[in-house]
Amino acid sequence: MSATSKKMGRVSVPSLRMRKGGEPIVCLTAYTTPMAQRLDEHCDLLLVGDSLGMVVYGMESTLAVTVDMMVNHGKAVMRGSKNACVVVDLPFGSYQESKEQAFRTASHILSETGCAAVKLEGGAEMADTIAFLTARGVPVMAHIGLMPQQVNTMGGFKSQGRDDDAALKIIADAKTVAKAGAFSVVVEGTVEAVARRITETIDVPTIGIGASVACDGQVLVTEDILGLFSDFTPKFVKRYANLGDSVSEAVGQYADDVRTRKFPSDEHCFGIPKKGKLRAV
Ligand code: KIV
Repeated sequence: MSATSKKMGRVSVPSLRMRKGGEPIVCLTAYTTPMAQRLDEHCDLLLVGDSLGMVVYGMESTLAVTVDMMVNHGKAVMRGSKNACVVVDLPFGSYQESKEQAFRTASHILSETGCAAVKLEGGAEMADTIAFLTARGVPVMAHIGLMPQQVNTMGGFKSQGRDDDAALKIIADAKTVAKAGAFSVVVEGTVEAVARRITETIDVPTIGIGASVACDGQVLVTEDILGLFSDFTPKFVKRYANLGDSVSEAVGQYADDVRTRKFPSDEHCFGIPKKGKLRAV
């Protein structure tokens, strides 16, 4: 978390909004209480991303993630954090139909979890919804570029904005969602020039994921950087630990100990009662 926000309660949406062009915003995904406890002191922002469908539940995409899943994981992350601003994703199908549907889902998630804001995917087509929500007390983080909920229309998890038309469309999307009231914009999977142009143009912070160092902040999936999710590793991920290997090694040792009766040893047992009938047994 930033030096300026240390020990002042949770990082708020307005304070994040004011970080535009300043100290980079540190964001990671979190889905559980123990992980949130570890991340909280280091992060300005914890994102309860719908990536949990793939990372925690083993789904092939984020499309089957439900509002109940987001609420449960949002509550868990709120319980495990006290400093970071917590943002929860609106899952696929829970907001695209109408701005009223989006408000119902967002207000439910906000009131059930106590999180500060919601994130939704989409560019210009979501502008009315973003304006509707922000005017009614729901802070919105927008998400443009590579949008995992559009995996079927995008033809896979592919980087976006590689030709002029596509690049201009993403830049236009960024301007539109910022104008509609988004307090920050996640820019995923696009070329540096696009991310740089967006960051220079809009007046709210950009949070990049696979969008270069030009952004106002960065987000990655925690399990990716820790080596806990290995189904596939996107090019933009930097791995800081190999906890998956550590887990395999530790569990292998436990299994050996159980099979060879090395565990439990005396130090892990409650011992022989000092008095009573069992003493004689
Ligand atoms: O679902 C998610 O975790 C996300 C981030 C990776 C940006 O949207």
